[in-house]
Amino acid sequence: MTAGPDYVASAAELSQTLGPLGAPDLLLLATHALRVGSLDYALAISELAPDGTEPSLALTRAAALFGLGRHEEARRLVADVQRRNPDHLAAMFYGAQMAAHAGDAAEAIQLLLSTLERFPDFPGAAGMLAGLRFPGPSYRDVLSRLHELLRPRAYLEIGVETGATLAFAKHSEKVIGIDPDSSKLRRDSIPPHARVFHETSDAFFSRTSRAEALEGRPLDLAFIDGMHLFEYALRDFVNVEAWCAPGSTIVLHDCVPLLPLTASRERHTKFWVGDVWKVVSILRERRPELRVKIIATAPSGLCVVRGLDPQSSVLREHLDEIIEQYRDLAYPAQGLDVPSGFDLVPATSAGVAKALV
Ligand SMILES: C[S@@+](CC[C@H](N)C(=O)[O-])C[C@H]1O[C@@H](n2cnc3c(N)ncnc32)[C@H](O)[C@@H]1O
Repeated sequence: MTAGPDYVASAAELSQTLGPLGAPDLLLLATHALRVGSLDYALAISELAPDGTEPSLALTRAAALFGLGRHEEARRLVADVQRRNPDHLAAMFYGAQMAAHAGDAAEAIQLLLSTLERFPDFPGAAGMLAGLRFPGPSYRDVLSRLHELLRPRAYLEIGVETGATLAFAKHSEKVIGIDPDSSKLRRDSIPPHARVFHETSDAFFSRTSRAEALEGRPLDLAFIDGMHLFEYALRDFVNVEAWCAPGSTIVLHDCVPLLPLTASRERHTKFWVGDVWKVVSILRERRPELRVKIIATAPSGLCVVRGLDPQSSVLREHLDEIIEQYRDLAYPAQGLDVPSGFDLVPATSAGVAKALV
C-alpha cells in the first residue's frame, strides 16, 4: 500500500528501524529528508538522536519545524544553539534566515555580517545580505522598467551571458549584445533581431564603427555589465558615450559592492562585484557635469548616467593616467556603507524618475 501524503512512521517504529544509527547517520538521513522535502521525516529522524542538544541535529530539527510552519519553536531552538555555541556558523545563518522571514531585517543583517566575518564565502550569505540591504525590485526588474519608460530604439549591452537582460529589448529596433563567452547564451530568450558579437567589448569597439553597427543612429540606452574591473568598465563607458546622443542613458551594473571584501580587484569570494565602483568616483571627479545616480537595487545597484556628451574627450585623452591614479585605491567605505558622494535613490517609481532627470 502507498503511504498517503500525511503518513509518517511513528517514533516507536522509527527508533526500531533506525535505532542503531548514531548521530552522524541520523543527521545524514534527516538532511536527506529535508532535501527531498519530507519535513515530517526530517523532524522525526532528528528527534531520534539521544543527545538532543547536538547542534547540527538541533538545527536540522529547527529547519524542519520552520518548514512545517512552527516558526517560533524553530527560532527558539536556533537561539538555544547560538547561546550554547556563539560561533556556530550554521546557527548564525539559520538565525538570519528565520529573522528575515519574521521581518526582523536588522537582526538578520547583523547575523549575516557575523557569518561573513568568520567565513567570507559562506554559501548564500552574501546574496541574502544584498537582498536585505536593498529590498524591493532586483536590478533586472529595474532594468526592465527602464526599457518600458525609455522605449529605446537602439540598445547595446556589454556582458550578455544567458541573455536574460538583453531580452528586455524586445521593442528596440536595433539590439546589440557583446560577450566573448557564447556558452551560456539562450538564443531563444533574446529578441530574434538581436545581434550578439562574441568578442570582448574592447575588440568590438576597436573594429566596429557606429555607422556599421547602427547605420549612423545613436544609442538610446546602453547597459554595461561586462568585466568587473574598473578599467574595462571605464573604457566601455567612453566607447559607449561616443555612440550616444545627449539625451541617451547609460546604465552601469555593480557600482555598489556589498562589502569591502567584494569590492577588490582580486576575487576572494563567489559573490564578487570587483572595483567597478571606481567608475562612479571617476565620473564625479572628471566629469562633474554628468548626472550620476545609483538606483538602490539588489544585488549591487544600477548606476544611471545622463546628460551625456558624445563629443567629450576628457576621459579618452587621459585614460592611462586615470587608470594609474585609481588602480590601487582601496574601497573608501566600511561595512555596508557606500563611499561618500554616491547619490543613491530608491528603486521605486519616484527613485527611478529621479535617476532619469
Ligand atoms: C554578470 S555577466 C552578465 C549578466 C547579464 N547582463 C545579466 O544581467 O543577466 C557578465 C558577462 O560579462 C562577460 N564579459 C567578461 N569580460 C568581458 C569583456 N571584456 N567584454 C564583454 N563582456 C565581457 C562575461 O563573459 C559574462 O558573461
